[in-house]
Amino acid sequence: MCGIVGYLGKQNTKEILLDGLKELEYRGYDSAGIAVLQNNNFSNFKAIGKLINLEEKTKNFITNDFAIGIGHTRWATHGKPTELNAHPHVGESSYVVHNGIIENYVKLKKSLENDGVKFLSQTDTEVIVHQFEKNLKASLSAFEAFEKTIFELEGAYAILLVTKGENETIFFAKHGSPMLVGINDEDEKYFASSDTPLIGHATQVNYFEDGDYGYVNKNEIAIFDKTRTKKEALFTQIATNRLSAQKDGFRFFMEKEIYEQSDVIADTLLGRLSEDSITFNELDPNLFDGINEIKLCACGTSYHSALSASYMFERYTKIRCSVEIASEFRYREPLMCKDTLFVVISQSGETADTLETLKMAKKAGLKTLVVCNVDNSSMVRLADACILTRAGIEKGVASTKAFATQVTVFWMLSIYVAEVKNTMDSQQRAKQIHLLREVPASVKVTDVMHERIKRLSKRYLHGHGFFFIGRDIFFPLALEGALKLKEISYLHAEGYPSGEMKHGPIALADPELFTIALLPQHLLYEKSKSNVEELSARDSTICAISAIDFDKADDFIQISTCQDYMLEFFEMMVAVQLLSLEISVRLGNDVDMPRNLAKSVTVE
Ligand code: M6R
Repeated sequence: MCGIVGYLGKQNTKEILLDGLKELEYRGYDSAGIAVLQNNNFSNFKAIGKLINLEEKTKNFITNDFAIGIGHTRWATHGKPTELNAHPHVGESSYVVHNGIIENYVKLKKSLENDGVKFLSQTDTEVIVHQFEKNLKASLSAFEAFEKTIFELEGAYAILLVTKGENETIFFAKHGSPMLVGINDEDEKYFASSDTPLIGHATQVNYFEDGDYGYVNKNEIAIFDKTRTKKEALFTQIATNRLSAQKDGFRFFMEKEIYEQSDVIADTLLGRLSEDSITFNELDPNLFDGINEIKLCACGTSYHSALSASYMFERYTKIRCSVEIASEFRYREPLMCKDTLFVVISQSGETADTLETLKMAKKAGLKTLVVCNVDNSSMVRLADACILTRAGIEKGVASTKAFATQVTVFWMLSIYVAEVKNTMDSQQRAKQIHLLREVPASVKVTDVMHERIKRLSKRYLHGHGFFFIGRDIFFPLALEGALKLKEISYLHAEGYPSGEMKHGPIALADPELFTIALLPQHLLYEKSKSNVEELSARDSTICAISAIDFDKADDFIQISTCQDYMLEFFEMMVAVQLLSLEISVRLGNDVDMPRNLAKSVTVE
C-alpha cells in the first residue's frame, strides 16, 4: 500500500524525505517520488522500482536551509507502475501526493478535461491537484481552494499538497487512510503514513482522524474537522523502537495484520460497490462470455479461499465450479476445456506450483484470471485478467488479511458474475451488497473477544489433536483455522466437514481430542449442532464458536448476532486466527516466522 511523507523545516529536506520513504518500504510499493519547494522553485524526481533508483536520480540534488517537501511510495491501483503514474502529481504550480482511492475521479476528470485540463497520468490522484488549481483561480486563498477541493472528493485519502503561492505551507487531509504529523522543538513538521519515519526526528505526534484537514507552516498547525470547525491537535509521545513502531505496538506482525483486516477489506471494497451492482474496472466485461465452468487453483490458505469461492460461485452464478490444489493439478494430466475460466489465487503471485498451473491453462488456450495481492508479480503479468486484493504487504508467514481480502473479492466477483449471467435479481444483489458493506465492521477485533480467547487458549496447549469442523462454506474456514494452528503452534490439527466426522475421525474422540466447532446461526445450525453433540457424547473437549450459547460445549467463543451467515463467517475467521495466535504465544513459538516455513514458496 502507498506511503506518504512530508517535511517542513531547515534540515536536509531531500535526505529526510528519502529516509522516511525507506521506513515505509515495508508497506510495499512499485515506484516512488519526491517534490521539494525551496526558494520558490520546485524540484521533482520520480523513479519506478526500488528507492535506490530514486536515490540515484536525486544524487546531485542538494537541499539546505528552509524547504518544504512531500514524498510518496506508490502501490499501483489506477494505472500501471510507471514514472508518469508515480506521485507527486503536478498541476501548473502545485504538487500532490495521495494514498487511497478517489471514487469520483472519473466525473471530476471529465469536467476538468472539458475545461481544457490535460492529464499526464492514468491515476485517480491527478484530479486532486487540477481540481485544487481550478478552485484556486476562483478563491481568495490557497487554503480556501484546498478546503473546497477536499469537500468535492469522495473515497478514501491521505493527501499532502504544496503550491508555489504558499511556499512555507503544507496542506493536508485525511479520510480513511492513515496519516500523522510530528513536531519537535526546532519548529520542524513531519508527516507520514505511520510512526516509523518520524522516530528520531519528532518528539510528539498527532494522529489525524477521518475528516481532518488543514495546513502547517513554521508557526502553526491548523486542523479542521469534517464540520469545518477548527480543532486542537492531540499530541502524544512518539514510540522510540522502530520495529515495534512498524508493528504499530502489536506484539507480532500477524497480530497487527489480524487487526488490520477491517481497513484492508474496506480498501478492497472501495470503488467496487454501488447500490445494486458490483464494478470491476479492471475486468473486460466479455471475460465470462462462453464460460460454462470456473476452475479455481491455488495452494495453502489461497486454496481455502478458492474453496470458499466455489460455494458462492455455484450458489449465485449457477456456473459449475471446481477447485484444485495446484501441486496436484500440475501432474495429473487434467482435462482442460476452452469453456472454462481458469482462476489462480495467490497472495504473493509467485508460488511455483500455482504459477505452473497458470502456464498450463494458458497453453491449453483457456481464459485466465488471477486474484492476487502483489501487483506486477509473475502471475499478474501472465494472466489475461487480474483482480488485486489490496491487503497491503503481509509480513506474517501465517496468512490472515490476504485470506480475508481474497474471500471478499470472491464474494463480490460471484455477485458480479451473477449479474452478467442474470442469475440474481437486483433486489438480491442489493441485499448482498448491503451485507458486503458490513464486513469491515464484522472483522473488527473487540477487546472482549481477544481477552476471552487469550484466557481460554491456556486449556489448548496439549492433547492429541484438534479438529476444526464446519459445514458448507464453514468447512473451508475450518480447514483454514486448522492450517493456522498447525503453522504457528506445531500442534496437529485437521479441518473436517462436520457431517463427515462420524465416518471415521469420531473414533479418535476422547477428552484429549479438541474440537473447534463452527456453529453459524444462519446456516445449517441444527445439523451442525447434532454433529457436535455426537462428539460431545463421546467426551471430546468442545470449543464452540457461535452467536448462540451451546450448553454441550466446554468452552464457548461468542460472536455477535449477525444478519447473515457470511458475516458470521468473517467474525469466526477472526476468532480462529486469534485462537491460533494466542496458543502459539503461550507455547513460546516464533509467531511471525514459524519453523520450516517461508512466506513465498517459489520451489515446487
Ligand atoms: O502466496 P500464495 O497465496 O500463493 O501462498 C500459498 C501458500 O504458500 C500460503 O497460503 C501458505 O499456506 C501460508 N503460509 C498460509 O498461512
